[in-house]
Order: sequence, then structure tokens, then C-alpha cells
Amino acid sequence: MKTTNELIQMKQDDKKITMVTAYDYPSAKQSEQAGLDTILVGDSLGMTVLGYESTVQVTMADMVHHTRAVRRGAPDTYVVVDLPFGSYHTSDDKGLENVLSLYQSSGANAVKMEGVGCLGIIRRSVQAGVPVVAHLGLTPQSVGVTGFKMQAGSIEEAEQLMGDARKVEEAGACMVVLEAIPADLAEKVTGSLTIPTIGIGAGAGTDGQVIVYHDVLQYGSDRLPKFVKPYGDFNSIGVSGLEQYVQEVRSGEFPDESTTYKKRVFDK
Ligand code: KIV
Ligand code: NA
Repeated sequence: MKTTNELIQMKQDDKKITMVTAYDYPSAKQSEQAGLDTILVGDSLGMTVLGYESTVQVTMADMVHHTRAVRRGAPDTYVVVDLPFGSYHTSDDKGLENVLSLYQSSGANAVKMEGVGCLGIIRRSVQAGVPVVAHLGLTPQSVGVTGFKMQAGSIEEAEQLMGDARKVEEAGACMVVLEAIPADLAEKVTGSLTIPTIGIGAGAGTDGQVIVYHDVLQYGSDRLPKFVKPYGDFNSIGVSGLEQYVQEVRSGEFPDESTTYKKRVFDK
């Protein structure tokens, strides 16, 4: 497993950091087998595996439950876990409590939080020994306010984001996710920081990339955002496999000799 410092060093060595979300034992296992540097147990699990409308309904208990499963599936991969909506905005004390509890009970190597409103919690978490990944640009926990669209499209907003990125670095964040911002801005932010940037919908100029497992493998997702390139199609594999199963049970083709225990317990 890579350490936080080794991930930071990858930026210096010009090596891209790979990250994918995973939410359960099998997807974590696949991610580790595929050699991902890092796994994010994103609160996107609310949508991808729980079927919620947004990440807003996701709870601390959900995050712990899924991260433990991921830890078991990927014991040798660096795991980042999202602080869910509402768990770090009421006060620094409450936020820190949730950081410590999530870090301690989930087995993750770092926690992630959205926005620039949590500088105090970043500082105190790092002081307490918890690596923190920041998340700027489109922050899905705020979609009620921002909408699901590209962020920082004007000079003023871009400068604001550059400043925010410096602030999270100063507060002690070890990496920063940049979501849905113009590629030239992401490249500029990347050049201005010593910590790695991990992009999603932020172009090729970041230090690494993160993508949602269920998007990249088309697993339960039906409408892909512009920035997703699908690398697999679990939807069609899954549905056609199940269709064949249904058809073979109905026709009596399954189970057959090869899938049946042959030992006889009755004479006739
Ligand atoms: O929850 C998530 O999947 C994320 C990534 C999109 C960065 O936060
Ligand atoms: Na998230």
C-alpha cells in the first residue's frame, strides 16, 4: 500500500495517481487487482448503490458500513472515505468528532471533505493525525445551491478557486480533488500547489484522475456525465446473463447434469 507521503511524492516524480470509487467487497477487490493507487469510498454511493437522488441522504453509518467492506476487499490499497453531508458543517468540534470516528471505525487511510468552509476541521484533523483530502469545484453535497454543472467558468470564480486551493493546502490537506472545472484552470491550480490534484471532469493537467466505478464500467448507471469514458459495460453483460438464466430455468435447460449432485439417497 502506498503511504500519503508516497502519493505526494508521485507529483514530484511526475507519475499520475489513479483513483476509482468502490463501495463494496467485490469492487474493492477488482480495484486492488487492477493496481489502482487509491480507492475512494465516495458518498456517491448514495446514488450508485443505494438509489438516492443525491448524496444528501447518505449517513455516517452508510459510510462506515461500505468502507469496512472496501477495506476487506482491498487490504493493500490506500482508501479515502468521504465525510457525508451534514457531518462537518455545524461546528468544528462536531466535524472533528465525526472525522475521528469515521477514520477510526472504517479502516480508511484518509478522509475527504468538500468545500473551503472546513479549513478549521482540516487543520484539526491533520493535527490529530488524520490525512485529509479536500474537494473543490463542483461539490455534489451542494448541488441544491450550485446545480450539477461546470464550476469556476469566470475569471473571478477561477481566481477564487485558486485561492481556495492554496487555503486547503495551507490548512494541511494532502491532496485535493478538482471536479468539473475548466481544464486550463485545473492545470494552473495543479502547478501552483505542492500537494497532488486529482481531477474528475477537470482535463488532463491534474496530477491524477478519479472516476466513479459504476460510471466507468456502466454498472447500473444510465446517463453518463460528459467527462466519463466508459471502459466496460456491466449493464448489458448483467442483463443478458440474467435473461439467459431465466430462459434456461423456464425451458428446463438449467440445472443440468453438470450442475447437479449425483449421489443417490433414495432407491427409486
Ligand atoms: O463521491 C464521489 O464519488 C466523489 C468523486 C466524484 C470525487 O466525491
Ligand atoms: Na463525494
